[in-house]
Amino acid sequence: MRVLVTGGMGYIGSHTCVQMIEAGMTPIILDNLYNSKSSVLDRIEALTNVRPAFYQGDIRDRAFLDAVFKENDVEAVIHFAGLKAVGESVEKPLEYYDNNVHGSLVLVEAMRAAGVNSLIFSSSATVYGDPASVPITEDFPTSATNPYGRSKLMVEECLTDIQHAYPEMSITLLRYFNPVGSHQSGTMGEDPQGIPNNLMPFISQVAVGRRESLAVFGNDYPTVDGTGVRDYIHVVDLADGHLAALNYKGKDAGLHIYNLGTGNGSSVLEMVDAFSKASGVEVKYHIADRRPGDIAECWADPAKAKAELHWEAKHTVEDMTADTWRWQSTNPSGYPDA
Ligand code: NAD
Ligand code: UD1
Repeated sequence: MRVLVTGGMGYIGSHTCVQMIEAGMTPIILDNLYNSKSSVLDRIEALTNVRPAFYQGDIRDRAFLDAVFKENDVEAVIHFAGLKAVGESVEKPLEYYDNNVHGSLVLVEAMRAAGVNSLIFSSSATVYGDPASVPITEDFPTSATNPYGRSKLMVEECLTDIQHAYPEMSITLLRYFNPVGSHQSGTMGEDPQGIPNNLMPFISQVAVGRRESLAVFGNDYPTVDGTGVRDYIHVVDLADGHLAALNYKGKDAGLHIYNLGTGNGSSVLEMVDAFSKASGVEVKYHIADRRPGDIAECWADPAKAKAELHWEAKHTVEDMTADTWRWQSTNPSGYPDA
């Protein structure tokens, strides 16, 4: 199966390409390298002995997309490309709506023109806003509290209307919970530029000595130990969820929506503790104010994906922390530049 992977050089996309190649699929990567490095391709090749086709360019460039579709007999598209930093989206809403919303529409236009009907879209648990209860099922109400979240929700709504108008299309919205971890080899992982926004990369940079101490954003939430609780999911499990979605729903016309999570919640302090154990390094932390916009707890009900995609997360928090440490300790500065 030949699959165009937009954003395939990024964190989740690169791990998905490895899993696809191992399953006998052919990923064709399209990425503008805004938030990734070309050396990712070398790592994919070293792991799989296959160097995927790579097109450097932007999803908003219609002529470029048309040329990629023309050169390749694409059967389906997995659409990861986009911007993802919540704080930055508040400062730069135009860039977020242009990249995430406009970019997705240009991509679907090009798919229509090329006669490609199968699309998998990277959505986020952020579309559930502040959920009334946990665990969260796919039929919970959606809302957004920042431009990043709104851009994901807008794309979900656009794709819902598009699938309604073109019922021959198969569109799958995958709502990721909190992707963490790295490939077990330690050769691929998350490589955020600048100060990490998310918990796991921050913890691992403290452990490796790049940062002094983790600020724990609030210890007065109504949770097990007062700190925020999330559903952390190993990136390789998440990657496999895309293969399952392609296999079970990719040819099935309709709109399909799935949570990709483990169904378990872990607190910030539980993650710090697990990381300290996995790395053998005590992760320094201090309690700080709550981060505006944060919710107390959030975890998935993953039953629908299990029943319909025959997929469930297999890796434990111990795997997530051990694999992250393997990546971070052997690649303390992330991917090389060239
Ligand atoms: P990432 O930044 O590592 O990967 C995104 C890739 O898309 C990057 O390689 C970037 O260079 C590329 N890109 C960005 N804009 C582009 C454009 N206009 N044209 C072509 N390429 C472009 O991010 P990730 O963590 O791998 O996330 C992938 C997707 O999953 C994103 O859509 C993100 O919003 C979504 N998501 C991520 C998380 C998470 O915690 N990582 C959670 C929920 C949803
Ligand atoms: C954040 C985004 C969300 C996005 C998700 C995955 C916000 C408000 N939400 O969610 O839209 O979909 O990432 O990319 O940014 N924490 C600390 N110290 C830190 C970092 C985080 O204590 O330095 C805590 C947070 O308060 C939270 C938990 O760790 O309780 C997880 O945080 P994070 O990794 O940023 O994910 P989310 O808040 O779930």
